[in-house]
Amino acid sequence: MHRICSYVAMFPPTLANYFIENYSEENDVILDTFSGRGTTVLEARMLNRKAYAIDLNPFAYVLSKAKSNSFLLEEVLDELKKWEVQYNSYNFDIEIDDEMEIYYSRANLKQITFIKEFYGKNWRTLDEIQNFILAITLGLMHGPQRKSGDSMYFSLSMSNCISMSKNYVKNFANKKNLKRPEDNIFSKIENRIKNILKGSKYSKVQAKVLYGNSLEISNYIDVKPKLIFTSPPYLNIINYTQQNWIKMWLLGYDSKDKNNDLKLDDKHNIKNYIEFMKKYLISISKIMDKNSTLAMVIGDVQKVNEVYSFDKMWNENLRFYVKDIVLTEIYTDPINQNNKATNSMGNRAGKSTRIDKIYIFKKVIK
Ligand SMILES: C[S@@+](CC[C@H](N)C(=O)[O-])C[C@H]1O[C@@H](n2cnc3c(N)ncnc32)[C@H](O)[C@@H]1O
Repeated sequence: MHRICSYVAMFPPTLANYFIENYSEENDVILDTFSGRGTTVLEARMLNRKAYAIDLNPFAYVLSKAKSNSFLLEEVLDELKKWEVQYNSYNFDIEIDDEMEIYYSRANLKQITFIKEFYGKNWRTLDEIQNFILAITLGLMHGPQRKSGDSMYFSLSMSNCISMSKNYVKNFANKKNLKRPEDNIFSKIENRIKNILKGSKYSKVQAKVLYGNSLEISNYIDVKPKLIFTSPPYLNIINYTQQNWIKMWLLGYDSKDKNNDLKLDDKHNIKNYIEFMKKYLISISKIMDKNSTLAMVIGDVQKVNEVYSFDKMWNENLRFYVKDIVLTEIYTDPINQNNKATNSMGNRAGKSTRIDKIYIFKKVIK
């Protein structure tokens, strides 16, 4: 189930698993306030914990929600059949975004546009099964072709993680003579659903996934989590909306708007980042009690000649404002670049983490 769709800066399931097992018991509440693809939610459910997750990005919300439940193969395939029947009987008068033909054949684009209009754009109101099919569809939007030319993805051969720009793909496709697949994308979705669900464990435990801002979490969550296991956005390393723009397009966000529609907190300079973390830590500390643990995965960031680490920010600044929690432990993982806890990537603003750290906070008992 973790394989449904890649996500930049995801942490490995084993990391979430380790902390959930060691910092909580069965039936305890686990919360991930920056849920991404829903790694914590799924691991928590599999370990019989009550999981809650929040993210401010629609793409992350859809992926996390897809992991909040287990599904029976037949019920998902029945729903998918309905989509295909609806498509086949539809008198097609939806405008097709010609520019997307850089990535997709006309035939594929027609089917994708149908899914976008009827399901993608309505991501907030879909039921669990429809959301699951949408998450699978997101995972197939783009990715590499095999040497034989076959591909499980809908697009010409490209990265499955980062949505590449139109100009780059246009030039690359011309140079390499890349072919855009022409097939029935409903069959591709069906194959993928079978592949994912056949190998996955069924659990009756359900999780709750919310679309919301974690800086205001104390205003709308009233559970007392035993463990908050999370990885906040990094210091100006990843722009989740821009780097996933093709997937965001499927959800109804115009590629031209890029990040304008969605005011996500992931484009920080150092001053904003400290403010962001301050707000977050003050808010999260309000829902913690003496039994709660907050564990945050935050890698160090290298910018030109300086390394920014969260522990430095905490010691020099944040701890004077956030007085209800105390930093009790730091796990440091100086691992090599191919085996990082978070597979974030660098850009011109700075290099992503060389060292992963996990910060453990406890509530101060007065
Ligand atoms: C480092 S990623 C988390 C990845 C996740 N651990 C995983 O394994 O997929 C950080 C996430 O925080 C989300 N985010 C950024 N600002 C937020 C906010 N104010 N409230 C909630 N989520 C936010 C981003 O959309 C992104 O998905």
